[in-house]
Amino acid sequence: MTILIKNANEVITLKSAVQGPRTKGQMGDIAVVENGSVLMEGNSIIAVGSIAQLEADFPDLVKAAEVIDASGKIVMPGLVDCHTHLVHGGTREQEFNMRLNGATYMEIMNAGGGIHATTKWTRETSFEDLYRKTMNHLDVFLKHGVTTVEAKSGYGLDWETEKKQLEVAKELQATHDIDVVSTFMGAHAVPRDYKGREDEFVDVVIHDMLPKVAEQNLAEFNDVFCEKGVFTPEQSRRILEAGKAVGLTPKIHADEIEPYKGAELAAEVGAISAEHLLVASDEGIQKMAEAGTIAVLLPGTAFFLRAPFARGRLMIDEGVPVAISTDFNPGSSPTLSLPFIMNLACMHMGMTLEEVLTATTINAAYALNRGHQIGSLEAGKQADVIILDVANYKQLQYFYGMNHTNTVIKNGRVVVQ
Ligand code: NIG
Ligand code: FE
Repeated sequence: MTILIKNANEVITLKSAVQGPRTKGQMGDIAVVENGSVLMEGNSIIAVGSIAQLEADFPDLVKAAEVIDASGKIVMPGLVDCHTHLVHGGTREQEFNMRLNGATYMEIMNAGGGIHATTKWTRETSFEDLYRKTMNHLDVFLKHGVTTVEAKSGYGLDWETEKKQLEVAKELQATHDIDVVSTFMGAHAVPRDYKGREDEFVDVVIHDMLPKVAEQNLAEFNDVFCEKGVFTPEQSRRILEAGKAVGLTPKIHADEIEPYKGAELAAEVGAISAEHLLVASDEGIQKMAEAGTIAVLLPGTAFFLRAPFARGRLMIDEGVPVAISTDFNPGSSPTLSLPFIMNLACMHMGMTLEEVLTATTINAAYALNRGHQIGSLEAGKQADVIILDVANYKQLQYFYGMNHTNTVIKNGRVVVQ
């Protein structure tokens, strides 16, 4: 099938000579084509430019194409949500209410709620019910313009349930329009029955679970919650190194609630990304810049936990490539709206309108090791394209708290209209 989008007020291509994740001034360079067109065939982008140029270069394809008139609208790459805890049982509005009344996130978790509560419900929920629930969530993501989503396990904390979560994600990757990229996060919390025997659980993750994840091809990445009261930097390092040994790329939940040298650890183990970083140290940020570690910032979590926002502005200025994401999960960020998270990044992390677009497309794609394939509109890339009902890209954040998605094209097919 051939599709031609034409008459768009702006096509935000994100095309650049820079290979790899972008930082500093590069993040502001979003390469806008005014009055632009996009030509796609099969699941690939053929060309982006003026209609006159496309007609001259590809006369037959343009003639055969199904035309979408984007007059008055803008076009950009499908959004990439590179950090979510997608597959889980239950909801935690009760704890939200407790937090509004003064309880803290860690107090609730230490009392057996939080991640432990979701673990219990995820263990109890059948594959079919998890599949259906997650499918509904993916439908909402897609309607908000997200065409690729990462999915972490970590609400099983036993092999049977971790495997169930990863298999749900894998099945949805096969059946849903959205691309689902899996991350194993067996080290998301120490299970209640391992209290006082934390190192034994670390051994279970390393010797029992990680090899099976790799053998059964259930994930590409390996993540750990490095946090005071959860996994120490030493335990986290062991887990990430063991993942590397079986071919899984490290990611890390770092410096979310208390400074714990998680950013430093990410740089040292060569993690592709360090995520959260609300209270990352100056030194950690420097080390990430030197190592080229991507900062995946999750301002929805700071908003929802009423915690300080990560220092996104500083990170970019210091040379760290920044991506942003929802962190969708039932405890600290129960939202499926990446557009709202983009608003927060502008308002609370000092990021510019252009940087926020880079952070949710090409940089997020690199955080999932897919920068060569998605995240910008360029000839040869996958045809993941969205049309937004705003007159220019500055209106995306100006008309805040709204979903401007008008049309979603995934892999060269119109899937939301
Ligand atoms: O990214 N910090 C750890 N994990 C999630 C929250 C998980 C939960 O509360 O269920 C996060 O914030
Ligand atoms: Fe998270």
